[in-house]
Amino acid sequence: MLRRGDIRLLGNVEVGRDVTMDQLRAHYDAVILATGSDRDAPLDIPGADLPEVYGASEFVFWYDGHPDVPRTWPLEAREVAVLGVGNVALDVARMLAKHVEDLLPTEIPANVAEGLRRNPVTDVHVFGRRGPAQAKFTPLELRELGKVPDVDVIVYEEDFDFDQGSEIAIRSSNQTKQVVKTLVDWTLKEPEDLTASRRIHLHFLHQPVEVLGEGGHVVGLRTERTALTGDGTVRPTGEFVLTPVQAVYRAVGYFSSPIEGVPFDDVRGVVPNSEGRVLDDGHHPIPGLYATGWVKRGPVGLIGSTKSDAQQTIAHLVEDVQAGRLGHPARGHDAMVAELEATGVRYTTWQGWELLDGFERALGEAASRERVKVVERETMTAVSRAEDHDGRLV
Ligand SMILES: NC(=O)c1ccc[n+]([C@@H]2O[C@H](COP(=O)([O-])OP(=O)(O)OC[C@H]3O[C@@H](n4cnc5c(N)ncnc54)[C@H](OP(=O)(O)O)[C@@H]3O)[C@@H](O)[C@H]2O)c1
Repeated sequence: MLRRGDIRLLGNVEVGRDVTMDQLRAHYDAVILATGSDRDAPLDIPGADLPEVYGASEFVFWYDGHPDVPRTWPLEAREVAVLGVGNVALDVARMLAKHVEDLLPTEIPANVAEGLRRNPVTDVHVFGRRGPAQAKFTPLELRELGKVPDVDVIVYEEDFDFDQGSEIAIRSSNQTKQVVKTLVDWTLKEPEDLTASRRIHLHFLHQPVEVLGEGGHVVGLRTERTALTGDGTVRPTGEFVLTPVQAVYRAVGYFSSPIEGVPFDDVRGVVPNSEGRVLDDGHHPIPGLYATGWVKRGPVGLIGSTKSDAQQTIAHLVEDVQAGRLGHPARGHDAMVAELEATGVRYTTWQGWELLDGFERALGEAASRERVKVVERETMTAVSRAEDHDGRLV
């Protein structure tokens, strides 16, 4: 799509650092915010501030090679807890348990491969506070978990309870039905089937209540057994379980970051909007300002729902254009580029992305991999802009 030429990309430009929202709105007839959710939702339990309690997004940033996070990750725990039973929890559990050799054919950055090579993990415990029919996994992602080489997935029969709410969920959603079927199939595994050197344990009906510390470090997770109440929600039972772990990852949902110069709903973690039209404090649409994706509706859904969501936003944008609601003519893209040049912003373009792509593939060739990802922002920028580290063109 970008190759078609009618979409122009400006990368390495941060709103609030390199440009202001007012500047953007002056240069374009409409601005669509699609900044997603980049923070972890908090989990307020005692011990959550211990150093080995991590947010899933921080870990995902690290293994995806995000340029602005440290290059190393402390992988020192043999036993790890992952809180939450959504796809992010699955991604984190899989990444923690997978042997590095099985990741090398992917685009995993070299520093991440190096970090994972020393990972001493043997057991990853994933905890859901409700039952198997309330898990948020999607079927394909869950089945993939069962195929990780030398990693056994273990479930516990006592965690399998289905109330009326669960029956309804299974009947009304094919996804839930498939997820439950996969989980139930795994209860049939015999002890002799479990031969792998690493294990992922999926626990249900366990509400995390405390991260236990000793000498300032994580030594365990206390969970309380819960019971389904009939409508798919749970109540506490007063029975507590202690699982020894030395690190805890919370994957209990994401949260968006505010964008300077744009209203923000601190409670829901989204930009206030009506079907994609951004609203001011008086709940009136701000002309020419739109939102789409997770910053619009919160962190739920796969790519399909994000597409239909974008269609809704764009339909309103088109309506507003046709009704003449967008306001004064904008200064235009070329004027924006000229302003970035004048203020010394080292922006990158689509052609620059292609340069970086070629550079990464060439690095990969030398290492017999498809590509080796560049993770330092400075190198990415310099390669994309075809300049040396002093900013000269090379
Ligand atoms: N490969 C992929 O396709 C992929 C990968 C990553 C993410 N995604 C998508 O991205 C979206 C976000 O994923 P996600 O995993 O972050 O969110 P999610 O699907 O909403 O799952 C969040 C999990 O955290 C639990 N939780 C929330 N608050 C909790 C608390 N206080 N204590 C204990 N558990 C708590 C939730 O349980 P309750 O249900 O009880 O609230 C739920 O199990 C999803 O739509 C997901 O499918 C897709």
